[in-house]
Amino acid sequence: MVNEHLRLGVFICDCGTRIASIVDTQYVAQSARQLEGVVWAERLLYPCSKTGLAAIQQAVRDRGLDAVVVAGCTPRTHERLFRRACMAAGLDGGLVEMVNIREGSALVHQDDPTAATAKAASLVAMAVAKAAYLEPLPHFTARLTQKVLVIGGGVAGMTAALALANGGVPVTLVERETELGGLVRHLSARYQDGCPAAEVLAEKVDAVRTHPLVQVLTNAEVVEVQGTVGKWTVSTDSTTDKRIGSTTRTSYPFIRSPIRLSVDAGAIIVATGAQPLHPAGRFEHDGRRVLTQLEFEAELAAGKVDASRVVMLLCAGSRDERVPYCSGVCCLTALRQAMQIKRARPGAEVTLLYRDLYTAGDEYAEMVLKAQEVNVQFVRYEPSLLPAIDAEAVEVYGAQNGAARRLPYDRLILATPLVARPDAGRMAWLLGLPQDAAGFFAEPRRHLRPGTYAEPGIFVAGTAHHPVDTTEVEFQGYSAGTRALRYLRQGQLEWEALAASVEASLCTGCGTCPSTCPFGAISMQRRDSVLSLAVVDPLRCGGCGNCVVACPPKAIAMPYYNDNQVLAQIEAALTQPSAISCQSSVVGGQWSVVGGPKILVFGCEWSGYAALELAGARGLSYPANIIPIRLPCSARLDPNHVLWAFLNGATGVILAGCEPGTCHFGDGNRYARERINQLRHMLADHGFNPERLQAAWVRPDDPEAILEAIEQFMKLRGTRGNSGELRGEYSPMS
Ligand code: FES
Repeated sequence: MVNEHLRLGVFICDCGTRIASIVDTQYVAQSARQLEGVVWAERLLYPCSKTGLAAIQQAVRDRGLDAVVVAGCTPRTHERLFRRACMAAGLDGGLVEMVNIREGSALVHQDDPTAATAKAASLVAMAVAKAAYLEPLPHFTARLTQKVLVIGGGVAGMTAALALANGGVPVTLVERETELGGLVRHLSARYQDGCPAAEVLAEKVDAVRTHPLVQVLTNAEVVEVQGTVGKWTVSTDSTTDKRIGSTTRTSYPFIRSPIRLSVDAGAIIVATGAQPLHPAGRFEHDGRRVLTQLEFEAELAAGKVDASRVVMLLCAGSRDERVPYCSGVCCLTALRQAMQIKRARPGAEVTLLYRDLYTAGDEYAEMVLKAQEVNVQFVRYEPSLLPAIDAEAVEVYGAQNGAARRLPYDRLILATPLVARPDAGRMAWLLGLPQDAAGFFAEPRRHLRPGTYAEPGIFVAGTAHHPVDTTEVEFQGYSAGTRALRYLRQGQLEWEALAASVEASLCTGCGTCPSTCPFGAISMQRRDSVLSLAVVDPLRCGGCGNCVVACPPKAIAMPYYNDNQVLAQIEAALTQPSAISCQSSVVGGQWSVVGGPKILVFGCEWSGYAALELAGARGLSYPANIIPIRLPCSARLDPNHVLWAFLNGATGVILAGCEPGTCHFGDGNRYARERINQLRHMLADHGFNPERLQAAWVRPDDPEAILEAIEQFMKLRGTRGNSGELRGEYSPMS
């Protein structure tokens, strides 16, 4: 419900000069003062600084503000900061709204300060319209279960488990293989000191296996994750179970039948690792003469090298279209293996074919020098002239002198990259972890979401989130373990939940919503002899909003993304400011912007919205009549929002959600796609051009893809122009 006596405060960030040199923030503050409910609006140099936060807190107290809007940079990094500051001043965190006028306006329209200012004023008006409907967030408290589940028994997982257990927290370590050790189990030596990997590993495995606070489940897979923040119950299917507690180091009791175990945990560490790309018929790979680095490790571990002519091909299968990234560890492995060959067989000819050598750090640069000293040959090749491989030799054009060389080999070692495990998607789905384009679990702060990127209490370590060497793996494992320890030591967690809730007086008990919830958070409870009532468990609700859209009588609401909030934003976007006129401090003189076609982009904050923000951060631009509206998932877009946008004069609507298979709520984007398709048919049936509604499925780190979708839309509509698009003419198509 809108509060008619609302006292709203608006704070406009100059961001030093980053925003203020493009956007006339003085004008934006002035126009905000004229908006309904706004009793205070001011510019601040840096609202996020200590002084800025103090100014906001003072205004909250002195002006008796009921709600606050901060217009600055991305809410995905700063919203929580402003919420906390306002809470310290006595305002509920749910009564704070943030809008991005830096990436959303200043940076994407930097060539056109007029359009940037108009757009910033419009974005602030939208935020104010939404803020009028903000409500305090429900607060929850959860006691943290003082146990940790570590998934993955490689070096990262074992190191994390030991850090926790040594800190006094019981740990269950789940490993899919029969033995602990992960990929390192297959290595002959450690990079940093050439120490035999088996020895290093044996020490760690023994420490884990004999620690009284570590329970090890091998041959075990996580099959289900239930519960919520701070108290998960994780089911594992296991064929081997061992409860550590005995002092015997040599014999472990095994239970050799598939069993399902439930593990309670207050925190979860994901250390599921990565795997080397299998060449699968490429590069003449046969696993004997032509083999991967990992396959060659077995020969090295045995201490004998049969080959006298060894060629190593770096970047075999990486930095191409299929695997575009540098794996980061293959060069080091190649150098170590070259030295091991030379030690075992000094007369062997070892040639290393490379594009670039990635050897970060002095010690690794030293390894190159040492390899050259023992006559390891280095030949650089151009990516445009890849070495040609046949069963006998490798033909390479040396980039240094352009001369062709034919290198016969006894062994061709392929430095294939580490890639995400095939079951990474399943794990991501079970735990609600975002994945990057390569399938790794995304870096915590790379794909930002308010406050965090996954549920609090879930940590990722090791190669599960990108390829790293064993030193880094160990460090990350330790770091994840200590962070989990610190997290659990809070004892209990207090937080506000963006959880759906059911208005009992509107619920008809139709039973539609439970099946739409990816978290199983909705159940039907008997209310009288005939009707039942949908009930949401707020601790399990992930906040995607799918049930809100699916509910036929519209009985489900969701903080921050309620229908009245989204509809108010839409209305404000399409009416404010259609024309502005002011004295500009940036461009000088009097200027005005004439209204024109507007296209609303409803962006999932995990992908489409994030990509639009990244476009601004990278200095890319798109027309100023593109207005982004943030949603928690594409599944939150209600067909009624689209119809409301068209009714209020939107030229077009684009839904920008996660690529298929990457929705952070499982199937949210599938629901969204179906709804968009149905709506397009319905629009066409009513003689309305369905092309005015489009969907784009994009990655958060690919702003070009969303800009391409916008470009295509503009071409369809014939409204392409520069960032002064607000001045453009619009001929309705329908
Ligand atoms: Fe992006 Fe569901 S989280 S579409």
